Amino acid sequence: MLNEQEVIAQLRALREKQPVKYTAFYSSQLGGIVTDPALMVIPFDDHMVHRGHGIFDTAGIVNGRIYDLDAHLDRFLKSAERSKLKLPGTREEMRDTIIKTTAASGRRDGSIRYWLSAGPGNLDLTPVAGADPGFFIMIFAGLAYPEKWRTDGVRVMTTTYPIKPPLYAITKNTNYIPNVLMQMEAKEKGFDNGVFIDHTGHVGESSNMNVAFVSQYNVLIHPKFDHILSGCTSMRTLELARRLVTQGQLKDVKVADITQAEALASKEMLIIGSSVRVTSVVQWDQHAIGDGKPGPISRALMQLLEEDMKSGDRLIEVPY
Ligand SMILES: Cc1ncc(COP(=O)(O)O)c(C=O)c1O
Repeated sequence: MLNEQEVIAQLRALREKQPVKYTAFYSSQLGGIVTDPALMVIPFDDHMVHRGHGIFDTAGIVNGRIYDLDAHLDRFLKSAERSKLKLPGTREEMRDTIIKTTAASGRRDGSIRYWLSAGPGNLDLTPVAGADPGFFIMIFAGLAYPEKWRTDGVRVMTTTYPIKPPLYAITKNTNYIPNVLMQMEAKEKGFDNGVFIDHTGHVGESSNMNVAFVSQYNVLIHPKFDHILSGCTSMRTLELARRLVTQGQLKDVKVADITQAEALASKEMLIIGSSVRVTSVVQWDQHAIGDGKPGPISRALMQLLEEDMKSGDRLIEVPY
C-alpha cells in the first residue's frame, strides 16, 4: 500500500528515468497548469485511456509565437463533433487556455498538443451520464527528425497495414494503432516511414504526415482529403505553392486521386506535416523517386513554409 507522498515520489522517479521535456501541462480536471512533469497525469478510467474516446490536435511555437493555431483548432472542433465529444467551453476559451499554457511554459520554440476526452467515471463504453469532458494541453520540445532527412531525403515503404476507414482517418482521434504499427514496421525493415494505400489502389498518407507529388508535367498533386487527415500544413503548403505557379516553377496545383503507379513515376515526392514541415522522399520501396535526391520543388516549398512560420499572417503573439 502506498501513501500520497510515496505515489508522488514514484511519479517523480518515473519522470526522472525518462528524457521528457514537457514544460507545462494544463488539465481541466486539475483546474489549472502544472510545470512539474510528475503531476502531468490523467485518471486511468478516463475514456480516452481505456476506450480511445478522445481527440487531439497540435500547433507549433516558432520564435515565441504560435503558428497556425486557428486552422488546427477548427479541425479539433470538427473531430470533437464527429466523435460526439462535449466541449469544455467555447472555442475562444479553449484558444485562450492554449495561449496561456504556452506563456506559462516559457518555451519559445517547440510543440503544443491538446486533447479532448470523454472524461472519467467508469469502465463502460459510453461516457458516464453528466461526465465533464477532459481538456488537456501539453507544451513540449518539438519532435525532431534526423538532420539527414533534410539533407538526403527520406525512404518510405508501402505498409502492409490497412488504411483506416475514411471516417476515422479524417477525424484526429487517439486511435493511432494503424499509424504506430506502420511506422514500427517501416523502421524494422530499414525505412524511415510507411505509406497507406487505400483499397482502390490510391495513395493515402503516412503515419503522422501527408504525402504529395510533383508529376512529370510539373503539377503538384496531393491526394484528396476525403480518406485521409486534412493536414493543416498540407492545406497551407498548397496555398503557398500557387506562388511557384506564378513564378513558372510549377504548372499547376491539384488535389486529386493518385494511383501508386502514377505516384512512383513522379519527379518528386514530399512528406508534409507540422513536425516534418516539407521534406523530400527519395525512395519508395525499391524505386528511386526522380533522380533519388531531394528535388527543387520540395526545397522551394520548405523555404516558403519556413518564411510563413516566421513572418506570415498566421502567427499569434504569446504573452510570456
Ligand atoms: C495521420 C496524419 N496525417 C497527416 C498529418 C499532418 O497534419 P498537420 O499538417 O496538421 O500536422 C498528421 C499530423 O497531425 C497525421 O497524424
